[in-house]
Amino acid sequence: MFPQLRLRRLRHTKALRTLVRETPLSPAGFIYPLFVAHGNGLRDPIPPMPGCFQLSLDQLPAEVEEVASLGIPAVLLFGLPAQKDSLGAEAYDPEGIIQQAVRAIKHASPETLVVTDVCLCEYTDHGHCGVVRDGDVDNDLTLELLARTALSHTQAGADMVAPSAMMDGQVRAIRQELDRSGFTDTPIMAYAAKYASAFFGPFRVAADSAPQFGDRRSYQMDPANARMALREVEQDIQEGADIIMVKPALPYLDVIARVKDQYDYPVAAYNVSGEYSMLKAAIANGWLEERRAILESLTAIKRAGADIIITYHAKEAARWLREPSP
Ligand code: PBG
Ligand code: ZN
Repeated sequence: MFPQLRLRRLRHTKALRTLVRETPLSPAGFIYPLFVAHGNGLRDPIPPMPGCFQLSLDQLPAEVEEVASLGIPAVLLFGLPAQKDSLGAEAYDPEGIIQQAVRAIKHASPETLVVTDVCLCEYTDHGHCGVVRDGDVDNDLTLELLARTALSHTQAGADMVAPSAMMDGQVRAIRQELDRSGFTDTPIMAYAAKYASAFFGPFRVAADSAPQFGDRRSYQMDPANARMALREVEQDIQEGADIIMVKPALPYLDVIARVKDQYDYPVAAYNVSGEYSMLKAAIANGWLEERRAILESLTAIKRAGADIIITYHAKEAARWLREPSP
């Protein structure tokens, strides 16, 4: 007891603080999302996400070389198609934007792990994540298209696929399709507990993927539910997921912690667009200190239990982590 016990003893010097730090942050656990669009010489700023851009294919080699040089092992690709239609045909077109981007990146930076988001919402004219029937997304009709999309990404050279549509059976459908085609070693990172979140707002500007009617509450999870997240994770593990994801991250740290506690699987957390925008807006106003606020947020996600953090802050955070810390 105090006065013999003094917890401040271990905080007096930087060396001591470093020695007893429980949660080191490293770019080795980051995945950097990229938005890829058709066109040439395109580097279009995304207004609600300062520092993020829509990039055309010719911009990708320099971008991924920078990502690799910062020690970030992986990118996660989102695509803006040339055309949208009711079945999201460009999602599974061998010459689609993602398929071309995968080839361009693997050519420029073979060591970079290329992960693709597997969903239909960027490619459908109605903006929903699957096939719409009678005003709602039809689960089982969507599975075949998700499986085709995942296969075509893998055939283009993707190292891992990340299904995000929140359809029941999507991991199983993709696993079967990949295995049938000989891609037994391609892992699946499943968006297992994905909530119907307001924090995806800026992303839908970036990826032009807002639903044109209704919302995603019939397939994404109710933010009020934590136990249900464990059932979603259980389901995806049963279906063959290799990595399980919780999304968003900061408003759902309790969910990350419970998933980590209950399952011996690598856990990824998606620090989503709205989380990024919130910090950047406050920083732009001079209300938060940039480096400290961002590194503290990422550390919190790690401390909650995330092994992998998907974050738009990856490049800046990697740069800061190379500098001496206070
Ligand atoms: C596609 C998808 C979304 C995000 C990742 N994959 C949007 C959505 O579900 O509406 C959100 C990512 C972010 O906000 O950064 N289904
Ligand atoms: Zn979607």
